[in-house]
Amino acid sequence: MHWYEDDDFWVDFAPVMFSDRRRAEIAELVATAPLFDHPPGTRVLDLACGPALYAVPLARRGCHVTGVDLSRPMLDRARAACAEAGVDVRLVRGDMLTHVEPETYDEAINVFTSFGYFERRADNLTVLRNVLASLRPGGRLLVDVMGREVVAGWIGRPQVVELPDALVFQRDTILDEWTRLRTDWTLVREDRAREVSITAFLYSAAELRALFAEAGFVDIEVYGDFDRSPYDQRARRLVVRGTRPADSPASGPDVPAAPAGQEGEDDA
Ligand SMILES: C[S@@+](CC[C@H](N)C(=O)[O-])C[C@H]1O[C@@H](n2cnc3c(N)ncnc32)[C@H](O)[C@@H]1O
Repeated sequence: MHWYEDDDFWVDFAPVMFSDRRRAEIAELVATAPLFDHPPGTRVLDLACGPALYAVPLARRGCHVTGVDLSRPMLDRARAACAEAGVDVRLVRGDMLTHVEPETYDEAINVFTSFGYFERRADNLTVLRNVLASLRPGGRLLVDVMGREVVAGWIGRPQVVELPDALVFQRDTILDEWTRLRTDWTLVREDRAREVSITAFLYSAAELRALFAEAGFVDIEVYGDFDRSPYDQRARRLVVRGTRPADSPASGPDVPAAPAGQEGEDDA
């Protein structure tokens, strides 16, 4: 099993990744950031939606949101969050490596470093191609990750997060000449320690831009945050947005034709 398929990992470390504080910050972000300024009725795919921290406020804006995630516990949390907020979000269990719904969305997002999980570069490219196929011509994909240049600014400093009932340690290691980042997470609760290592691609802005282009996106924009600030020495994140060409065919030779609803996928 790959680390990203480990439901227990997402559940155990959820209090750090998906804190109430982060949920409140994202609600504010989606309400105000120009990159989320979608008119009511916009069809949005939240790919790797987790517990719907973005999907809920996007639905509140009047968007028709579909959240796709591999983890059933994360989808359960997403469903609970939508119910609590009183918003309607379609939740689908799916793997971004195979999930395609041809020409279904106006906008797609993949945020909080939910990209680059696959060991093979070609598989991460496939994810972009899948999203391209799921967008209508002229539709856009926004990917938000910790860029290599951003990580270079703080790497080497282990982090400790104190939770009410646990301590979480996070330590980063650069691998393969800055191609990949391994993060070792340790959760200490009472007298038990749980350790997990996750490894993902660490993209520079130029590399992620090139990957978008290779997948077939055009009008590629690169930002240092959701406020459209430049990706420079002050950047806090790497945000890349690309557009499916207006005249692109329904599916190119490299675009997988498999529709959603295949093995392992269901409306959650
Ligand atoms: C870092 S979390 C981010 C969640 C959410 N985007 C957010 O901002 O809170 C990554 C999410 O990706 C999901 N995931 C991991 N591998 C996946 C895959 N192959 N296909 C779809 N989702 C996946 C995990 O279950 C998890 O919910």
